[in-house]
Amino acid sequence: MRAPFRNTERAYGLVSQGFHWLIVVLIIVQFIWAWRIDEIDGLRDRLELVTQHKTIGMTILFLALLRLFWRLFNRPPPLPAHMSRWEQNAAHAGHWLLYGLIIAIPLSGWAYSSAAGYGDYWWGPIDFPSIVAKGEELEELFESTHEWLTDTLAIVAIGHALAALHHHFWRKDDVLKRMLPIWRKE
Ligand code: HEM
Ligand code: HEM
Repeated sequence: MRAPFRNTERAYGLVSQGFHWLIVVLIIVQFIWAWRIDEIDGLRDRLELVTQHKTIGMTILFLALLRLFWRLFNRPPPLPAHMSRWEQNAAHAGHWLLYGLIIAIPLSGWAYSSAAGYGDYWWGPIDFPSIVAKGEELEELFESTHEWLTDTLAIVAIGHALAALHHHFWRKDDVLKRMLPIWRKE
């Protein structure tokens, strides 16, 4: 039996898998909330959705930092030997880009909110400090930063998911399976 929590040479452990899928679900919720914020009429309902978006986003930031910390002490299983050097490099670059994005996006959202002058977004009771000064110019800057970073995440994550499916259905290797908690192999 392998230790279930840590990564092994053959598979991701439960902690890495848990972080991965929990953050995937929360990010999908974030995109749905952003779309709902756009669609909804009524200031009060809109404000509630924006507050939820910020709260979930700050939770993602917290989880992403914990995940990164865990990752530094838990090497992932090596990529299959049949992948060429450039494919391995592309996979690694993609993974680090994704790590960067799940940290940079909430930070840009936080900076955007600070510049806009809104705090009070941890389900109410906890206020986050402002990380940039209040002001219209900074607000516009971080609004567009948040937007292009999320656009980039959408593109990279779709490419990443397609690559995982390609491994599973075309290459028929274990790359997707070893990220799934239901799959157990020594
Ligand atoms: C990984 C986490 C996050 C994701 C994936 C995400 C995603 C998005 C997306 C897709 C939009 C719509 C952008 C557009 O096309 O205009 C948006 C808007 C926004 N986000 Fe985030 N976000 C995240 C975290 C945060 C955080 C932590 C905050 C603030 C603390 C935040 C604050 C905002 C605000 C204020 C808007 C504008 C909402 C409006 O239309 O009024 N976001 N976010
Ligand atoms: C917002 C969406 C996503 C983000 C931010 C994300 C992020 C990441 C990151 C950072 C890694 C590297 C893990 C590490 O080296 O510690 C990873 C690995 C992985 N992801 Fe995702 N992911 C997302 C969506 C998906 C989806 C939808 C799938 C499946 C279709 C998927 C399948 C995988 C697989 C199979 C691996 C392991 C690759 C390997 O063995 O090297 N991911 N993901």
